[in-house]
Amino acid sequence: MNADAKKSLVLNGSAIVFVALAGAFLLDLWGRPVATVPIVPVAPDFTNTATVRLSAAELVRTGGDASGLDCYVCHEKGKTPVIHFGTNNLVILPKEHEDLVMRHGRNDRNDNCYNCHDADNLDMLKTRDGHKSKITESSRLCGSCHGPTYRDWEVGIHGRTSGFWDRQRGAMVRQDCTSCHDPHSPAFPAMKPGPRPNQLHPEKDVAENGKETH
Ligand code: HEC
Ligand code: HEC
Ligand code: HEC
Ligand code: HEC
Repeated sequence: MNADAKKSLVLNGSAIVFVALAGAFLLDLWGRPVATVPIVPVAPDFTNTATVRLSAAELVRTGGDASGLDCYVCHEKGKTPVIHFGTNNLVILPKEHEDLVMRHGRNDRNDNCYNCHDADNLDMLKTRDGHKSKITESSRLCGSCHGPTYRDWEVGIHGRTSGFWDRQRGAMVRQDCTSCHDPHSPAFPAMKPGPRPNQLHPEKDVAENGKETH
């Protein structure tokens, strides 16, 4: 066989192979891979790192409307407001404070405003043993009644620590109690569970369980 005959044999041979392959692909002889299910990004409220509540300290720090913290816009200096209790011993709130939900503890008993607010200086906080602090520094007040939880918080077991481990790069931030708990109604709000992880083979699950499971 001369060189030309060899060349045309190879070329014709490969042409036939390619045509056969094209036919096989067109007829889906080997089937097609199942289309991958697009991975939906997690809803942003699950990745949001903000605390559930804006504490008085954060409100002031971020320049929000802190007029509600200024008690003496409405109250008279040197005059202690009288707390009114109903026949069931639960506090009766005036219209101006109707937005407060008083539900501290299982029996709503921690509703005496002066357990926490200083009766002689309304815009200050005061612990039962007389320690005063600004309304924006309330964590120690909470600690005066919740010692064990406060000590857990101090060492980072309760609550949340953010910021930097390496102090040279920035400060460590321990979120205040009131960034998570409403002082007047401190039970932590129920949370929606986050979505489960994305599956490696979602189509297999559909085939085996007969239903879409994500
Ligand atoms: C928008 C006006 C307003 C602001 C601001 C305000 N108060 Fe009052 N508050 C009132 C009125 C009106 C009453 C009912 C009359 C009274 O007792 O003086 C009242 C009543 C109270 C009472 C008595 C509760 C009861 O059972 O009647 C306490 C305690 C109190 N306020 C604390 C505070 C503290 C602490 C602050 C600041 C953190 C504050 N208030 C800010 C208007 C206000
Ligand atoms: C368990 C402690 C505690 C008790 C009891 C309490 N407070 Fe407070 N209150 C606080 C703290 C702490 C803040 C600051 C809140 C923050 O950081 O968000 C505050 C904030 C407030 C504010 C201003 C901001 C807001 O949330 O509207 C008002 C007004 C107020 N308290 C009124 C009252 C009144 C009236 C009573 C009684 C009926 C009362 N508080 C009982 C701890 C308490
Ligand atoms: C004067 C004492 C006192 C102070 C101050 C105080 N607490 Fe409490 N707290 C109580 C009592 C009493 C209970 C009820 C315990 C129970 O019902 O078993 C309670 C209950 C709680 C609960 C559980 C609520 C629930 O429904 O399960 C939380 C959370 C809480 N407090 C957070 C705080 C925070 C945050 C602060 C500071 C803003 C604070 N407490 C300040 C006395 C206090
Ligand atoms: C980052 C959020 C966060 C911070 C900050 C935080 N807590 Fe809590 N706290 C929680 C959660 C979540 C629970 C559990 C609620 C549940 O189990 O329903 C809780 C539970 C509690 C309880 C109920 C009893 C218990 O120990 O389980 C108390 C009391 C309490 N916290 C007090 C405090 C005090 C006091 C501070 C500040 C020194 C504080 N918390 C700071 C989120 C926080």
